[in-house]
Amino acid sequence: MGASSATIQQNDVVVSRSVAQELDSNDPLASFRREFVIPDDGLIYLDGNSLGRTPKRTVERLRNVVEKEWAGDLILSWEHWLDLPRRVGDRMSAIIGSRPGEVVVHDSTTLNLYQAVHIAIGLRPDRRVLVVADDEFPTDRYVVEGIASDLGLTVRWLAPDIDLSDVAVVVRSVIDYRTAEIADVKAFTDEARRAGAMVIWDLSHTVGAIEFDVHDLGVELAVGCTYKYLNGGPGAPAFTFIAEPLQRVAQQPIRGWFAQKDQFAMERPFEPHEDIRRVLLGTPHILSLVAAEEGISLSARAGMRAIAAKGRALTAFGLDLCDHFGLPTSTPRDPDRRGHHLAVHHPDAKELLSQLAAKNVIADSRPPDILRFGMSPLTTRFTDVWDGLEILDRLTQSR
Ligand SMILES: Cc1ncc(COP(=O)(O)O)c(C=O)c1O
Repeated sequence: MGASSATIQQNDVVVSRSVAQELDSNDPLASFRREFVIPDDGLIYLDGNSLGRTPKRTVERLRNVVEKEWAGDLILSWEHWLDLPRRVGDRMSAIIGSRPGEVVVHDSTTLNLYQAVHIAIGLRPDRRVLVVADDEFPTDRYVVEGIASDLGLTVRWLAPDIDLSDVAVVVRSVIDYRTAEIADVKAFTDEARRAGAMVIWDLSHTVGAIEFDVHDLGVELAVGCTYKYLNGGPGAPAFTFIAEPLQRVAQQPIRGWFAQKDQFAMERPFEPHEDIRRVLLGTPHILSLVAAEEGISLSARAGMRAIAAKGRALTAFGLDLCDHFGLPTSTPRDPDRRGHHLAVHHPDAKELLSQLAAKNVIADSRPPDILRFGMSPLTTRFTDVWDGLEILDRLTQSR
């Protein structure tokens, strides 16, 4: 970023809308906003961490797939659709540093996580403890508790000095969905490995936001969604990453014909592929998959280094505004320890959310008292951050 961003990070600044305008005019990613369908340029959209905006290419691609591939070529299109979950998975290399053949994109994060937990348990058959934080994102907690209950295993809550020596699997988010705090992935993964436990990382708030390299960090199993910062669209399919050496031994619980080695031989007993395709289930959601592919490709084109840098600058600016307006926030000050949303605390968070929406500011809230302001580097402007937080300040002043 330019000099003005450096000034802001030093915290000795006059924060004003003109500073935001200057940051926007120095933003190397500014042109990417034109790649998106934005019907109302005045809408202050600070919820791309829940649902990213709509890439123009996605609209074009969907039209082409519907009109040409579906309406025109009909069943013949399955010839190239069949392998789409893996091909789209390969595009995740630019986002998480995976190698070709280590990711598939399919179904929801919840389902991918359910499969991954079973795979990890299967790799630690002598251990009977699963670990998850008691305040982890609900679906992650529910999946872990549900599997523990089905298999007669014990759930232990994640704690700073936790003993992992008898633990089979830990499920953990890289980025906290409330505060945006980033976990120390490498240190925790190393510690778990030394203790003999498997870790499944949830990358839902990570992908398309911060730089992340599964191999540098020693990650073996991960899941995440594509509808937030990757702009894959509502209900876009999620992904599973399995490091190549684990793939042959990974046993997942749901046997579907898309995992079967010779899928169309039909009368054979179940014998899954020896690669990442063994986690596939049934017929892939082609329209959602092509939309996800366009979103992922757009982030790949912008580059995760530039995206991460802009996210850090946006949140740094937002934190300065919180200080300026006296808005309490629990989002970490250390730019290397925070993702791309700000958690602002207010006892009337839910009510304020509706009042913000009435003023054309879209954010979201999480109990008990958090207003979340998501900053999506390809589409959020510094002036959006200024406008959104300034309007919030005015609303809180008038209460
Ligand atoms: C951290 C995290 N994990 C899992 C999910 C759930 O994903 P899905 O609805 O795709 O199953 C979400 C959704 O927002 C999430 O934020």
